[in-house]
Formats: sequence, structure tokens, C-alpha cells
Amino acid sequence: MFMGHVLLQHLPNLLIPPQFRTFGIATDFLQAQSLYTVAKLDIADYLGTETKTAEELAKLSNVHPESLCRLLRFMVSVGYFTEVDYTTCSFKNNRHSNVLMKSDPYTMKDVVIHMSDHYADFTNLLETVKVGAQTQKSKQYWANLETNARMRKTVANAMTQITSMENEIISSDYDFSKFNVIADIGGGNGHYLAYLLKNNKNMTGVLFDLPRVIEDAKLVWTSELNMTFERVDMISGSFFDKIPSRTLSDDRQIDAYIMRSILHDWSDDASLSILQTVRKAIPKDKVLLIIEIVFDEPYDYNIAKRRSDTTMQIIGGKERSRSQFERLLSEAGFVLNKVVSTRSIHSVVEAIPK
Ligand SMILES: C[S@@+](CC[C@H](N)C(=O)[O-])C[C@H]1O[C@@H](n2cnc3c(N)ncnc32)[C@H](O)[C@@H]1O
Repeated sequence: MFMGHVLLQHLPNLLIPPQFRTFGIATDFLQAQSLYTVAKLDIADYLGTETKTAEELAKLSNVHPESLCRLLRFMVSVGYFTEVDYTTCSFKNNRHSNVLMKSDPYTMKDVVIHMSDHYADFTNLLETVKVGAQTQKSKQYWANLETNARMRKTVANAMTQITSMENEIISSDYDFSKFNVIADIGGGNGHYLAYLLKNNKNMTGVLFDLPRVIEDAKLVWTSELNMTFERVDMISGSFFDKIPSRTLSDDRQIDAYIMRSILHDWSDDASLSILQTVRKAIPKDKVLLIIEIVFDEPYDYNIAKRRSDTTMQIIGGKERSRSQFERLLSEAGFVLNKVVSTRSIHSVVEAIPK
């Protein structure tokens, strides 16, 4: 994700002979599914700071002891967990397995489970490449989440876990403090808006998302993000229909609209229609901030950006380059003012109404 990562991504290709490298990549799904299985079974959470035998862990997670021991040994081979005693098959957490614990400050547990929810979709990659990404898929994906509370929670947590790695970087590389009222459109459970409000004491915010997501966000806002409702309006709706242009509580004009990791979920047609909705709400002197991957032109082989683009292809969206954003924005009635790159893979695309 960061610069070092970009340089490191080529190391395996330099160090491993092509046939071994190919076999490794062809079997990468084993690692992903094993990671998912230990996360889903709460193994890291059961271990905490203790050492436990596979037998004890199997009892706690209600699975087959020998199979669990074999799975954990595979995980040790890829860097997760430490085997403390081979004869009793006892394990403890290490720095990698720590992030599979729900309570770890850098937890990635929901990201692992969320990615696995996509797993079946990825078996359709061949089909997707044959017919192209389908807008209908994005619509179906978010509609399914509206009715599936477990998946909605996992996605919201996963988004928080992925994006909170970058909150500090993005917010120091782009100056958000100049805005008094900021709206996060498709802001999920509100974790980024909460971060901005905590760090800018004079700022107030509007969180906008689908109805069930906003219902969930109201609970998360107080219980997990330790926020009060004094400086926020939570508004539900669809960004294909209408988004707010003023706060509800004190009728103030919104200065800046953030859309973070939104347009990449959608095809060009759907993105245009979202941007047209935003354009209707936003007066000439205000600004739209699209926080997304922006591909370098003419090409960009950053693995993290390419991985995200492939994931988006599966759900019906795409990552874009500056000129692709420029075209879309122009069609929707905006001018791309500037692209501010950050030390993360995400940039801030600043757009102003024409
Ligand atoms: C990839 S998540 C990004 C969440 C958040 N902006 C972040 O960066 O963590 C996409 C968000 O768009 C929201 N969304 C999807 N369809 C929507 C719609 N029609 N109207 C409003 N929000 C929508 C989802 O509920 C989800 O919170």
C-alpha cells in the first residue's frame, strides 16, 4: 500500500524461479481460505496472550482437533501463529496472527471475512472478463447488503479496518480543516467523518448512506466511535435520487462533499448518474472531494491498485485514471480542479461545479 510495498511487490519475481512463482500464485487461494477459516473460528481471539493446544482450541471452536492442528501448522508456514510445543500441538499468537483478533487495535479480522464473502464471485472472473463488468451487479451487491445484517456489519467493519489505516495520512496530506460543514456521501458507519470531527473541533458533519446503514451507524457512532450527535446529522437516502445540500439541525450550507471509495464501485454510467445527483445539490462555490485510487497514466502496475481494480471488476465497478475522472466529472457538470496525491494509494480528486 505504501511506497515500500510497491518496491517489495517485485521481489518475489526477482527471487523465485518462474515455475515455482507460478505454482505459488496458482495455490494462493489456499492461504486466503486458511486465513478466512482461522478468522471465522476465532482462533486468534481464543489464544489472546496465552498458549493453547489444538485440542483446547478445537473444543472452544467446536471443530476437529487434528484438522485444526494441521491447519494451524500451515498457517505457521506462511507466518501466522507460533507453534510452542510440537508434541502437544500448542500455539500462541505472533505479530501477524494478532491482527486476526477482534480486540487488536490494528485488527483486520472483518477484512479477511469480507474478502471471503467475495470468494464465490471471484470464481466468476472468467465469465466477467468475457462479458465485461455489469452495473446490475453493483446494484444487486448493495441491495443484498440492505437485507443481510451480518454481511452489512462485516462490510462496514472491513471498510473501517481498511480505510482507518490511511485516515491520518490522507487527512494530513490534504487540508480538510478549511471546511466548516462537511458531508460524507456513502460514508458507511461514519468512522471517517468521526475522525475528521475529532480532529477539527469547529467542523460539523453530515453522514449520508442507505437507510439500514444509517440505522447501524447511529449505534456505532456512540458505542464504538465514542461520539455524540451534537455536531452531526445522519441522513438516509440513495445517491441515485437526492443528497442533502444543507444540514438538517441548523440549516447550514454544506461546504465540501466527500465521496470516499464510492465511484470505484460503479460503472461509468452509474457513476455519471451519482455525480449528476451530487451536482444538483452542490452550489457553484462549494467543492466535491473524491477520495479514490487514481491510476498513473499511461499505465500503473501498483499491485494494491490493480488488486482493487480486479475486485471492482467483479462487483461491477472500476478504478480510474485522472483523465477518466476528468471526462466523467465534465459530463456531470464539474471541472477537475486538482488531484492531490497522498502517501497512501488513494488521492483526493478536487472537483468544482462548472
Ligand atoms: C465501499 S463503501 C465506502 C464506505 C466509506 N465511504 C469508506 O470509505 O469507508 C461504499 C458505501 O456506499 C454506500 N452506498 C451504496 N449504494 C448507495 C446508495 N445508492 N446511496 C447511498 N449510499 C450507498 C454503501 O452503503 C457503503 O457505505
